[in-house]
Amino acid sequence: MKVIALFAVMVCVATVGLSTSLFDVTRHNSNVWPDVQDDVKMPGIVILGKGSKLGGVRFDHVSHNGGTYSISGTGPIGCTECHHAARPASEIAKHPPLKTAWPADRTTTLTADLFAKDAAAAGVAKCADCHASAGEKPKLLEKIPEIKHESSAAMISLNNQQAMHRSCAGCHTEYKKTHPQSKAPTAMQCVMCHKKGT
Ligand code: HEC
Ligand code: HEC
Ligand code: HEC
Ligand code: HEC
Repeated sequence: MKVIALFAVMVCVATVGLSTSLFDVTRHNSNVWPDVQDDVKMPGIVILGKGSKLGGVRFDHVSHNGGTYSISGTGPIGCTECHHAARPASEIAKHPPLKTAWPADRTTTLTADLFAKDAAAAGVAKCADCHASAGEKPKLLEKIPEIKHESSAAMISLNNQQAMHRSCAGCHTEYKKTHPQSKAPTAMQCVMCHKKGT
């Protein structure tokens, strides 16, 4: 958790310092996927933040759902480790600070099987539908989600950047503790994720 907190601070500093030149807060990836409800497909390669100043991030949805990418290194990552809202509220309550289910009254948990059976009913929303870019209203929520900072009273606004950094780099840092040779990019390895011109 310390690494994540430090990372958040570093990114804040970087963002404040370079806000006018490098990191303008426009949404870049709103057109990458078709609208959730009508035609949901299992992604292959996703370019997150396409065209952003620091460069888009190539995310291989297939490799992250197969092989042994889980933190324990023993199997695939469960869908709900990333799609955390796609399970019943009673299940989510076991994983604080998480508490929000979507859709709110859902009774199913997202798995590869559930998705294969009925993609539309599986209830997968894009991260960005809730974790919008700073300053924007998310499509599915009244405002950008917030959680309390681990080590202070401050609230952290989980915009797209914060949510992705915590989810992606958080796991990579954990994974590398037991797999030091791994190619998974950790928090400070910005350009292993962000590729200029992508
Ligand atoms: C593990 C991969 C990863 C690493 C490492 C990483 N990022 Fe990111 N970053 C992302 C993803 C994914 C997004 C979300 C892009 C989107 O969907 O808009 C993002 C978003 C951002 C954004 C917002 C872009 C925009 O235009 O909305 C900034 C700025 C940023 N990162 C800076 C950094 C900096 C600085 C570092 C290094 C200290 C870093 N990132 C390290 C994956 C990473
Ligand atoms: C390592 C994290 C991770 C895991 C594990 C994961 N996903 Fe994803 N998934 C993502 C990200 C990131 C996106 C892109 C979201 C965006 O564009 O904002 C995505 C997008 C999707 C989409 C497209 C949504 C849309 O409306 O375009 C579907 C469908 C999906 N995932 C289903 C699944 C299923 C089913 C599983 C389990 C078998 C799974 N995902 C596991 C991170 C993950
Ligand atoms: C339906 C809205 C919604 C969707 C879709 C969603 N989130 Fe969240 N997310 C939230 C809310 C709200 C919170 C704050 C805690 C809560 O209320 O559950 C949160 C919290 C988080 C956290 C902080 C958890 C922690 O322990 O630090 C991370 C990281 C995160 N989301 C990443 C993602 C990623 C990555 C995706 C897509 C794969 C995603 N979220 C999709 C609404 C959403
Ligand atoms: C729960 C764990 C977990 C999460 C969450 C996760 N990853 Fe990874 N990721 C891994 C592991 C494990 C590897 C590397 C395995 C290896 O070294 O063979 C990896 C590798 C990568 C790589 C190197 C190329 C590749 O595909 O193998 C990139 C880039 C990457 N991840 C980006 C991301 C981004 C962007 C996100 C968030 C949207 C993310 N990851 C979320 C576990 C995770």
